[in-house]
Amino acid sequence: MEFQLLAADSGSKARAGIITTDHGQIETPIFMPVGTVGSVKAVNQQQLKEEIKAQIILGNTYHLYLRPGTEILEEAGGLHKFNGWDRPILTDSGGYQVFSLSNNRKLTEEGAMFQSHIDGSRHLFTPERVMDIQRSIGADIIMAFDECPPYPSEYLYAKNSMELTHRWLARCIQRLGETEPKYGYRQTLFPIVQGSTYKDLRKASAEFVAAAECEGNAIGGLSVGEPEEMMYEMCALCCEYLPESKPRYLMGVGTPWNILENISLGVDMFDCVMPTRNGRNGMLFTSKGVVNIKNKKWANDFTPIDDGIDCYTSNFYTKAYLRHLFVASEILALEIASIHNLAFYLHLVKQAREHIIAGDYNQWKNEMIPILKQRC
Ligand code: GUN
Repeated sequence: MEFQLLAADSGSKARAGIITTDHGQIETPIFMPVGTVGSVKAVNQQQLKEEIKAQIILGNTYHLYLRPGTEILEEAGGLHKFNGWDRPILTDSGGYQVFSLSNNRKLTEEGAMFQSHIDGSRHLFTPERVMDIQRSIGADIIMAFDECPPYPSEYLYAKNSMELTHRWLARCIQRLGETEPKYGYRQTLFPIVQGSTYKDLRKASAEFVAAAECEGNAIGGLSVGEPEEMMYEMCALCCEYLPESKPRYLMGVGTPWNILENISLGVDMFDCVMPTRNGRNGMLFTSKGVVNIKNKKWANDFTPIDDGIDCYTSNFYTKAYLRHLFVASEILALEIASIHNLAFYLHLVKQAREHIIAGDYNQWKNEMIPILKQRC
C-alpha cells in the first residue's frame, strides 16, 4: 500500500491524499460504507459503485468468521470474489464486536473467549487467530486485535487495557510477518490507538503505535458515549503523534459534522453504521440538514429527496414517496434511504477534498456545519 499526500489546508490540519492498494486507489479524505457480513445492508454492489461512488468498503472479522466462516471464504477465493466487490476492502478485527455483541466474554492475556451471538457456540480470539482469519478473508487493509474500553473507564482500567492492546499489537505484527497473503495481492496492517479519554494514555498509545511503523494508523475507542468536544480533543492529540506521512483512520465516526471536524484535525478515513442504520429508521442526512422522513410534514412534498448531490436515487424519488414507503413498511424504503445517506456521505468527503485542494477547507467547514446540523 502507498499513501501520497497531495495537499494540506492552510487554516487547519486537513489533508488530501491518495492511497494505492492492489485493488485500486482511494482518494482521501474518504468515508467507507460498512458491510459487516460482506454486504452493505439494503444496498447492492452496483449501487455502491455507480450511485454511491464508494471506493472502499468494510467487512468484519467477528461476523465473517461466525458466518459464512473461513472455509467458505477460502473456497470462494476470498471476500472480494465471494461478494463481487473488486475495489479495496478493510476488515475490522472483531475486537470491538466481541465486546459489544457476544455473550459471556472473558478477557485474558491470551485473547478473548466468547460465545457467538448467533448460536451460543464458544470461541477464542487471539491476536494470532484474528490475523489468520483476516488472511482468509483477504481484505486489503486489516486491523490489529484490540480492546475498546467503554466510556467512562477508570484510569487504571484504561491503562491496563491500552497496555494489553499494545502487547496484542506486537503479536499481530509477529504473526503477519510469519504468514503470507492467500490470494496473491498485498495486505497491510493498521494498528489502533487506545487510551480512553486520558491525555497521557492517548499520547503514549499514539507514540507506541507510530513506533510500529505500519503503513497506516487507526484511532479507536472514540464515539463510545463521550462528549463530542472530548472526542475532538483526543483525536487532535492522537493526530499530533501519528506520522503525517501515513493515513489516519478514525474508527466508527460519525455524523456528517463529526467527519468534517475530524478531517480538520488530520483524519483521512472514516467508517460508521450511522448512514445505513439511521437511514433504515427514516433519518436522512441531506445538503439542507437532517430530515425525519416519517414526519407528516413530508406527506405531500413532491420535491426530490436531495437535488444537491449527484445520485440518481436522491434526485429521482420524492420525499412524499419515500415517506409513503416508510409508513407502508415497504422494503424499498430501506434501500432508498441507505443509498441516499451513503451517497450524501461520499459527496460530503469529496467536497471536503476539493476544498482542501483549493486551500479554503476550514472556512468551508465552518459554513457547512450549521447547515448540516439543521433539523428540516
Ligand atoms: N470500531 C469503532 N471503534 C473501534 C475500536 O476502538 N476498535 C475496533 N477494533 N473497532 C472499532
